[in-house]
Amino acid sequence: MVFASATVLVSASLGALYLYQNKLVYPSWAQGARDRVDTPDMYGLPYEDLRLKTSDGELLEAFDIRNENSTATILVLCPNAGNIGYFLPVAKFLYDEFKMSVFLYSYRGYGLSTGFPSEMGLKIDADTVMDHLAHSEFHKSQKLVLYGRSLGGANSIYLARKYTDMCDAVILENTFLSIRKVIPYVFPLLKHVSFMCHEVWDSEHEIENIQDENLPFLFLAGLRDEIVPPPHMRLLYKLCPSRFKRFVEFPLGSHNDTIIQDGYWVVVREFLQKHNLI
Ligand SMILES: *[C@@H]1O[C@H](CO)[C@@H](O)[C@H](O)[C@H]1NC(C)=O
Ligand SMILES: *[C@@H]1O[C@H](CO)[C@@H](O)[C@H](O)[C@H]1NC(C)=O
Repeated sequence: MVFASATVLVSASLGALYLYQNKLVYPSWAQGARDRVDTPDMYGLPYEDLRLKTSDGELLEAFDIRNENSTATILVLCPNAGNIGYFLPVAKFLYDEFKMSVFLYSYRGYGLSTGFPSEMGLKIDADTVMDHLAHSEFHKSQKLVLYGRSLGGANSIYLARKYTDMCDAVILENTFLSIRKVIPYVFPLLKHVSFMCHEVWDSEHEIENIQDENLPFLFLAGLRDEIVPPPHMRLLYKLCPSRFKRFVEFPLGSHNDTIIQDGYWVVVREFLQKHNLI
């Protein structure tokens, strides 16, 4: 009897975990990030505020920030918290310092985009954005750089594999092999049930299957990352088939603050210059 109710309890908790994991994996609801999105004009940037329609009927908010002097558009793939407004200080830097055009969008269920996040949905969103860029006269005239941290890195790897011909470089920061492999590190108690995680993001296999060894990759790894175990970045680097890949580690960088570590922008600038993107 005791055993039976313990079993019921455990199945109920696992059931809840199964049903509610999207809220954990995609905390788009946190920090009021669904209510308010800063706009590029607040940073003195020119932009167009777009609503891109996905094949399954969602509307995605995107900021198209064009720099008349750019060689490349940098497509920003956001992490799983916050919204595109949070990234605008970096967009400003990329625009002013590197003279790049910047394209940002909110995944479904984030910021002012409609719907609810899921792996399948976010992949449709990514497809929608690539389709938009492929049909834009301006962006067609530009090279394309993918730039993603954490969940954004998983989106970047997905795009680099699927739209290899459209991409000219990929910058990955503190991203993971798969969500299943992150679980034991963040939630040790759940390590035996990580198979129940239906949000997978299998970057480990996706990255191996990128069919262009000339596509340059830059890996930026914070060694104090408390969310993604640092060996994940090392292994992604190893699996990446590119002949032009570079791995740079930041000993003091944690999951969210690697970007402010000394030398970060020096490395990014060198990479973009080396590949004629700025
Ligand atoms: C583009 O270059 C021209 C000539 O150097 C300069 O006057 C203009 O301000 C630049 N535009 C931007 C957005 O940087
Ligand atoms: C860092 O990012 C995670 C998710 O990516 C978020 O939950 C957390 O609040 C952030 N922490 C800080 C200090 O910004």
